Amino acid sequence: MKRRSLIRSEIRCLSAYVPGEQPRGTRLIKLNTNENPYPPSPRVARAIRRHLGARLRLYPDPVSLRFRERIGRTFDVDPERVIAGNGSDDLLTMGLRAFAGEGDLVQFPWPSYSLYPVLAGIQGARVRRVLFSERYELRLEQFDPRAALTFIANPNAPSGTALTTAFLRRLARRLRGVLIVDEAYADFARENALDLARALPNVLVTRSLSKSYALAGMRLGFALGSRELIGAMFKVKDSYNLDQLAQAAGEAAFADAAWHRRGVRRIVRTREAFRAALEERGWEVLPSEANFVFARPPGGAAEEWFLALKKRGVLVRWFAARETRERLRITIGTEREMRAVLRALDISRSGRGSHANGVFRRTGMETGMPIQA
Ligand SMILES: Cc1ncc(COP(=O)(O)O)c(C=O)c1O
Repeated sequence: MKRRSLIRSEIRCLSAYVPGEQPRGTRLIKLNTNENPYPPSPRVARAIRRHLGARLRLYPDPVSLRFRERIGRTFDVDPERVIAGNGSDDLLTMGLRAFAGEGDLVQFPWPSYSLYPVLAGIQGARVRRVLFSERYELRLEQFDPRAALTFIANPNAPSGTALTTAFLRRLARRLRGVLIVDEAYADFARENALDLARALPNVLVTRSLSKSYALAGMRLGFALGSRELIGAMFKVKDSYNLDQLAQAAGEAAFADAAWHRRGVRRIVRTREAFRAALEERGWEVLPSEANFVFARPPGGAAEEWFLALKKRGVLVRWFAARETRERLRITIGTEREMRAVLRALDISRSGRGSHANGVFRRTGMETGMPIQA
C-alpha cells in the first residue's frame, strides 16, 4: 500500500521565504537587508545587562506588558490595543492565523514583501496579487473588497514608494475584511497610518524595531489596532513570544526618543544625497520613503551591476523576478559607506565598455574614498 505523505499538501508545494544573505566575518559593505548602519541607543545594552543572570531562570512576561505600556505612552493609545511581536514577521503571522482561514482570500500589492504569499500558503489561503504599475502606483478598484485580509507594506519593499494615507483610508472603507498596513519603514516616511488604526475597526498597523531602532538582531515589533483585532491576535500568538532581554531592550529603545530621531534624520539625509548622486550617473531611482532605494542602472542590466559591486565588497540585493530584475535595492548605510558604493560603481562602470558612455558625472558625494568604508 502506498504510504500517505507525511507533509501537508500546502507545505509540499510551498516555496519557502528566502531571507537576504547574512555573510559572516567579512569586511563587506552590507547593504542587502535594510539594516541600520548606526548602533542602537546605549540604553539598550544597559537594560539587557541588568537582565542577565539569575532572573533568566524565570519565564518572561507572556504579554510583554511593560513594553506595551511604553508603546502606549509613545503613541498615545491604550496598551490593550497593542500587541508585541518577535519582529514584525511574528505579527504578520499572527494576523494571518487570526484573520484568514483555509480557502479565504488574501491580497497584497505586487511586487512587495515576499513573506506574504508564504504565510498565506502555509494557511492554505487563496492568494491574489494586486499589480503595481511601472511607477509603483495602484488604483482602489484593483482591490477585491471581499478579501478576508489585505496586506499593504507602506512604504513598500522593495520599491521604497509609499501610498498616501488618504488612499489607505478609502481602501479600508471599501474592504469588508482586515487591512494590515505593514509599516516596517514608516519612520523614514512622511506619513503613517496610525490614525487609521486608532479610528477604523478593520485597520491594523504593524511596526518593526529592526530598521529605525537598529534592533534587527533583537527581533522586536508591535501592532496597534482595535481591541477586537488585537484580542484575536493574543489568542493565536506563541505563548512566550518575546524573551526577557527583548522586552527590556524594546522598552529602553523607546525611552531614548532623541537617539531614534537623530538616527532617522541622518539616514533620510544620506538617502536623498545618494539618490541625487545615482541620478547624476544616469540611474533611474524610484522616490523612496524608506531606508533603501530601488534603482535601475542605465541599460537595466542590474544583475551585472550586482555582481560587479559584490566583487568590490559591496553587497546589495537583486531580485531575479521579471518585474524586479532591472533594478537593485540598495540599503542606505553611513555617508562614508555610500560614498564607497558610488566609487565602486564608477570603477565598475569604467570597466564595462557599453555603459561607459558619458552619462555618469562626478558629484559632491563622490570624493575618491577607498572602496572599504
Ligand atoms: C515590508 C517588511 N515588513 C516586515 C519586515 C520584517 O521585519 P522584522 O525584522 O521586524 O521581522 C521586513 C523586513 O525586511 C519588511 O521589509
